[in-house]
Amino acid sequence: MIDQIIAAREAALAEIDAADSLESVTALDTRLLGKKGPLAQLKTQLAGLATVEEKKAAGQAVNEALQATEAAISARRRLLGDAALAARVQAERLDLTEYAGRPARGHAHLVTQAWERLEDVFIGLGFRIAEGPEVETDWHNFEALNMGEGHPARGEFDTLFLDYAPPGAEPGHTVLRTHTSPVQIRTMLTEEPPIYIVAPGRVYRRDTPDATHMPVFHQIEGLVIDRSITLADLAGTIEAFTKAFFGADFSSRLRPSYFPFTEPSAEFDVQRPDGSWLELGGCGMVHPNVLRAGGIDPEVWSGFAFGFGIDRMAVMRHQIADIRDMYANDLRFIEQF
Ligand code: DAH
Repeated sequence: MIDQIIAAREAALAEIDAADSLESVTALDTRLLGKKGPLAQLKTQLAGLATVEEKKAAGQAVNEALQATEAAISARRRLLGDAALAARVQAERLDLTEYAGRPARGHAHLVTQAWERLEDVFIGLGFRIAEGPEVETDWHNFEALNMGEGHPARGEFDTLFLDYAPPGAEPGHTVLRTHTSPVQIRTMLTEEPPIYIVAPGRVYRRDTPDATHMPVFHQIEGLVIDRSITLADLAGTIEAFTKAFFGADFSSRLRPSYFPFTEPSAEFDVQRPDGSWLELGGCGMVHPNVLRAGGIDPEVWSGFAFGFGIDRMAVMRHQIADIRDMYANDLRFIEQF
C-alpha cells in the first residue's frame, strides 16, 4: 500500500513538473486532488488494511502525498503565472522615456525676451496689453494721428504701400503699419476711457538693413486716457518704468521734441549709472485732434502716449554691435543667449 502511495505521489509530482501552461496546471489540480484522484482512491482503500499500525502509516503517507501535490501545484502555478505576467508586460511595454541626452534646446528670441519683459513691467504698473493689425489703413496709420495727406511727417516714415484693401477700406489706402501708434486709435474707438494700455508689435519701413536698421522691427506703444491727466503723470510713468525695467540706479528725462500726434511732445532719455544718456523713444500729451479721431471728447478727457523700439532694448541689454545678427539665425550667435 505504501509503495502504491509513493508511486502515485511521484507520478503526480512528475506530471505537475511537466505542465507548461496555467490551464494544464488547473486541469491537474482537479484531476490529482479531486475526489476521484489517485490519492483519494487509495484513501478509500485504507479501511481494508489489516492492522491499525498499517492504517495509520498509510493514512499519514496519503496525507503527506496530498499536501506535497497541493504545494507542487501552487508552486508551479506561481512560476507559470510570473512568466505569463512577464511575457504580457514585455508584449505591452510602452517606452515612456524621453530622449534626455541633452536638455531641451532653444529659447525665446532676444526680441521676444525683451517684449515679454516689457509687458511684465507695464502690467505691473497697471497697464493692459492691446493689439492692432499689421496691415493698416492709411487713416489709422496717419490721418487719425493728425498727419493728413501732404503732411511732411508722412514722408519721413518710408512707408510700404499695399494694393490689398481690407473689407470696408478703399483700395490704394492700405499700408504695412509704420509704427504702433494706430493701436491708439483702434483702442479709443473700441473702448471707453479710462484707458491704460501698451501695444507691443511688429512694424515696417522701407529701409535698407544696416547695423542699426531693419525694414521689419518692433515697437511698444503706450496710451493713457483719463480725467485730468497731465505731463507730470507722463514724466512719473516714464520714471517708474525706467526704474522697474533698467534698475533703481537708472533715471529718465524728457527733452522737448515734435510729433504730430502729441502736443506738447518730447523725447525721453534714460541715464545709466555711469552718467551717460541713452535716447529711448518719443512721448507727449495726446493731441486733441487725435482724441477727436478716436471719438473721445478732449474737453472731458486728456491723456499721454509714448512709443519706443523693442529691438533697441534687446541690442542695448546684450551689447549687440549689429542688429542684423539678431535675425541671421547663426547658431554661434543665438546659442550665447
Ligand atoms: N510713433 C512714433 C514713431 O514711430 C513714436 C512715438 C512718438 C509714439 C511719440 C508715441 C508718441 O506714442 O507719443 O516714431
